[in-house]
Amino acid sequence: MPITRRYFLEQMGWLTAATATQSAHVMQPASAAPQLLDTRALARFVDPLPIPAVVKPVGTKPSPADPSQQIAYYRIVMQQFQTKVHRDVPPTTFWGYDASCPGPTIEARHGQPILVEWVNQLPRQHLFAIDHTLHGAESDKPDVRTIVHLHGGRTGPESDGYPIDWYTAGKSATCFYPNQQDAATLFYHDHAMGITRLNAVAGLMGFYLVRDAIEDELNLPKNRYEIPLAIFDRSFHPDGQLFYPISAKPGAPWVSEYYGSAILVNGKVFPFHDVEPRLYRLRLLNCSNGSYYKLSFSPEATFTSSTLAFHQIASEQGLLSAPAETNLLILGPGERADILIDFSAHAGREVILRTDVAVIMQFSVAAAKTSGTSALPSTLRPAVRIPETAAVRTRELTLADYQNRLGRSSVMLLNGSHWDMPVTETPVLNSTEIWSFINLTDDSHPIHLHMVRFQVLDRRPFDLAVYQLSGKIVFTGPAVTLSSTELGWKDTIRVDPFTVTRIIVKFEGYAGRYVWHCHMLEHEDNEMMRPYVITPA
Ligand code: C2O
Ligand code: CU
Repeated sequence: MPITRRYFLEQMGWLTAATATQSAHVMQPASAAPQLLDTRALARFVDPLPIPAVVKPVGTKPSPADPSQQIAYYRIVMQQFQTKVHRDVPPTTFWGYDASCPGPTIEARHGQPILVEWVNQLPRQHLFAIDHTLHGAESDKPDVRTIVHLHGGRTGPESDGYPIDWYTAGKSATCFYPNQQDAATLFYHDHAMGITRLNAVAGLMGFYLVRDAIEDELNLPKNRYEIPLAIFDRSFHPDGQLFYPISAKPGAPWVSEYYGSAILVNGKVFPFHDVEPRLYRLRLLNCSNGSYYKLSFSPEATFTSSTLAFHQIASEQGLLSAPAETNLLILGPGERADILIDFSAHAGREVILRTDVAVIMQFSVAAAKTSGTSALPSTLRPAVRIPETAAVRTRELTLADYQNRLGRSSVMLLNGSHWDMPVTETPVLNSTEIWSFINLTDDSHPIHLHMVRFQVLDRRPFDLAVYQLSGKIVFTGPAVTLSSTELGWKDTIRVDPFTVTRIIVKFEGYAGRYVWHCHMLEHEDNEMMRPYVITPA
């Protein structure tokens, strides 16, 4: 069964089955739906899980912040390449950083700045159909354009990967990453205006891990006991090539959502990984275009089997105050979670990572462990909850659908504004604000702000009809209590349908022009992205 957000919403009780079926054709209009590879029929657990290589610097260069200091210099090349996503699927053409997907992992240390030269050596033709009616992707623009963004990076505006600062094949851009931020699982990916979704489906993404001394002290599982897992879904043509749907509208191929039939981990469908019966650290990243995952672990590949308890230790922007025990993790596009899972009770058996409807991968647990001293810490990093009184202002920002003259939904906007309308969010550097997202749509949107980290205050249901008539928010219930896994630092937040979701943000770092947007990449590419400017104090 395909994992759709509609399905997810239905499971969460946010949509009725009737509404869900109505929109079942959104992703594959009948006119355009070709015969696809039946990925559900593929043999399970025949391919080992790939672990992305850690990239080494090619040299040193003077730091842009202090030219007397030499800092590590990396050079990463975007290339087209072929790889096998499964033993029984012919090789697939992808685009990847250093010809791999996920790209190589960048290992960074707090306080040690680095430079990365991102080189575009992609072909001149795109793998997928460009929609030239989308803002920033007009036909006078080259089809193949890239600009790298470090998601979650506290990066100066000139190195943040502003969507219109793209460049073409044969060119490169060098970014300066100061790494003045807490240990966290970040990721880099393409952000080119109007084609981010297509560049992402092609494979342009990779891990960027920031480590620091506080994390080092915790004796968390390291090296082969610490595994990054990039989870994304794709559909394939029978010849193994990536499938991306097009709309039924001539000249305007954009579709509102992309859900693949197979879930890949580090680029493989149904991989297995050999583990020892001991504690592991898994860094989970949902880098799908549009899919939400309800992740759990179970001793069997069935959906009714019991689930195992594990501990979340970090959210997007770093460690929680203490490990939070859970057996279910909901990750929207762009969200990450670090977890500790103990395989010691499963020696000689299997543990399955799955969603509520799909098997993802298998951990094959050996009979005995070779070493291991790490244990679950009782506390991690002291958490300071930002008091609401620290905020100098609250911004109410709508997430809404706008219809065209035919009454069809044509575009989703943030704060009722298109990308090229004047900047409306202009927080002052180092000030604290509350951003209150009012979701008027029946979709859950993962909202991401560049450069900053934030905390979630609450989610609260409101009456849509009253809002539509009067513009007033009338709550229909109390604020939903956050789970202990949501109390840490985040940079991407699920804004659920017909709720007001509030975050509190300190605009710490750099003044300049950034973006905030929905991380469902189809939405982002079609106006669900806004510039914002952090003004000097
Ligand atoms: Cu992960 Cu603006 O993006
Ligand atoms: Cu969205």
